[in-house]
Amino acid sequence: DWVMGDYIAEAVERIRQQVGDEEVILGLSGGVDSSVAAALIHRAIGDQLTCVFVDHGLLRLNEGHMVMEMFARNLGVKVVHVDASEQFMGHLQGVTDPEAKRKIIGREFVEVFQAEAKKLTNAKWLAQGTIYPDVIESAGGKTKKATTIKSHHNVGGLPETLGLKLLEPLRELFKDEVRELGVALGLPHEMVYRHPFPGPGLGVRILGEVKREYAELLRRADAIFIEELRATVDGPSGKSWYDLTSQAFAVFLPVKSVGVMGDGRTYDYVVALRAVQTSDFMTADWAELPYSLLKRVSGRIINEVRGINRVTYDVSSKPPATIEWE
Ligand code: XMP
Repeated sequence: DWVMGDYIAEAVERIRQQVGDEEVILGLSGGVDSSVAAALIHRAIGDQLTCVFVDHGLLRLNEGHMVMEMFARNLGVKVVHVDASEQFMGHLQGVTDPEAKRKIIGREFVEVFQAEAKKLTNAKWLAQGTIYPDVIESAGGKTKKATTIKSHHNVGGLPETLGLKLLEPLRELFKDEVRELGVALGLPHEMVYRHPFPGPGLGVRILGEVKREYAELLRRADAIFIEELRATVDGPSGKSWYDLTSQAFAVFLPVKSVGVMGDGRTYDYVVALRAVQTSDFMTADWAELPYSLLKRVSGRIINEVRGINRVTYDVSSKPPATIEWE
């Protein structure tokens, strides 16, 4: 539509004015905000933009591949793909405390990103997908509580350390405007309307110590859940259950329970499914998913993911439970 077209033209012009012929780096997470920022900046300055995508080994199934397909292949954006999973797994070994895990993941993330950024010696700008609600939050607004209950990913201080100027082209936009902009820039609807995913990734969805083996099992169970949510359409609204929920995911419980399979006894891990509906993520209701959907998901997970023999559904609302389990 013409309003968005005008907006893009204006934003592109502003970025060109600001940046001139200098180089920009951006940390791509696969999330909506950094993706839209990347697409917009690329539209403005093309190859003067380099994106860094850090894979901490705690991403969802195929996520790295999808990001590379979309940005590097489809849009022709320069993307450096860093596989840092060994480093992250190493530092997380033996750590069980949720806040300690978050701190380690946040710290390593900054470290890896910084090391990559230093290699791009021509860069003068650090671009971030900061949106208007983030600006209010960091100005000490009322949503501060969330950051003290669980320390969120914090890359503040990074531009100073790297001696870079900050480029934040989405600073004035609300989430729904960012999504519209993303679609107008040619990003797939499916990507732009994705559920939020926490910075520490599967690290906070594997309870206690994070192990590669657990991450593998969780990734596969989670992908089945999401696939079925997308495929199941609710009659009355005509929407998929993915679109009817605000966030949905699987959680890995490192406890074993007994089951039977064929003639044998199994003794395997448990996965919990979580799906919530919320408008602001400060409070949330568990979603009343159809039993038939839950049945299909549980059947598929237990049959397809060897190592998991039991699936439960989380029926806790926020408060008092949080959306994530850690
Ligand atoms: P909780 O679990 O506090 O989550 O009800 C509220 C929302 O915040 C997301 N979340 C995080 N996002 N880093 C993030 O970037 C984090 O450490 C983090 N912890 C929770 C969560 O996924 C939900 O959308």
